[in-house]
Amino acid sequence: MESIKLLALSGSLRKASYNTAVIEALQILAPANIKVVIGSIGDLPLFNPDREEEYIPALAELTQSLKLSDGLILASPEYAHGISGPMKNALDWLVSGVDFPDKPVMLINTSSRASHALEALREVVKTMSGIVVEKAYVSIPLLSSGLDVGGIVDNREISGALKAGLNQFCREIEVQKLNNRVN
Ligand SMILES: Cc1cc2nc3c(=O)[nH]c(=O)nc-3n(C[C@H](O)[C@H](O)[C@H](O)COP(=O)(O)O)c2cc1C
Repeated sequence: MESIKLLALSGSLRKASYNTAVIEALQILAPANIKVVIGSIGDLPLFNPDREEEYIPALAELTQSLKLSDGLILASPEYAHGISGPMKNALDWLVSGVDFPDKPVMLINTSSRASHALEALREVVKTMSGIVVEKAYVSIPLLSSGLDVGGIVDNREISGALKAGLNQFCREIEVQKLNNRVN
């Protein structure tokens, strides 16, 4: 397998966030040829189309990370049946950019009851012309589990599901890379 670089975003700004813990666990669980970079969205200002031409350091960092990535991993909590504000805000900032279209996207859901945000996220990603890799979708029941990064990594069932999802995601990315070379 060739080396693959992935950008992972958590939609939660909470210190003890399950969504953040999950992408941190992925970073640890990923094999040596797969680099998972965790992006920061907490410092982005509220989306304002009037500011799209402005230099905003947090946005510049995010867009550069996205540009350099072969795929994007999104893990967002559900708040009031919607995508979390921080995640939607980050995606809104990326709507007009050139790096999102055709980007393979892996979705992770840390709560089985949070189906509204998941469906909304699928719709938003598709509308932004990203490619949701359904085979890589991972749903893991972390809500109220009390597990932190170490606990997730040590839990064979959960870490196994994460590794399997990551593996499917990277296989799909490799297929897409091959297709791009041929075409
Ligand atoms: C204001 C608020 C609204 C919430 N609304 C929902 C909801 O509509 N559906 C749901 O399944 N969980 C809801 N939750 C639970 C969160 O999704 C859950 O706590 C999740 O673990 C937060 O993600 P995090 O651990 O990554 O911070 C809500 C939590 C808060 C604080």
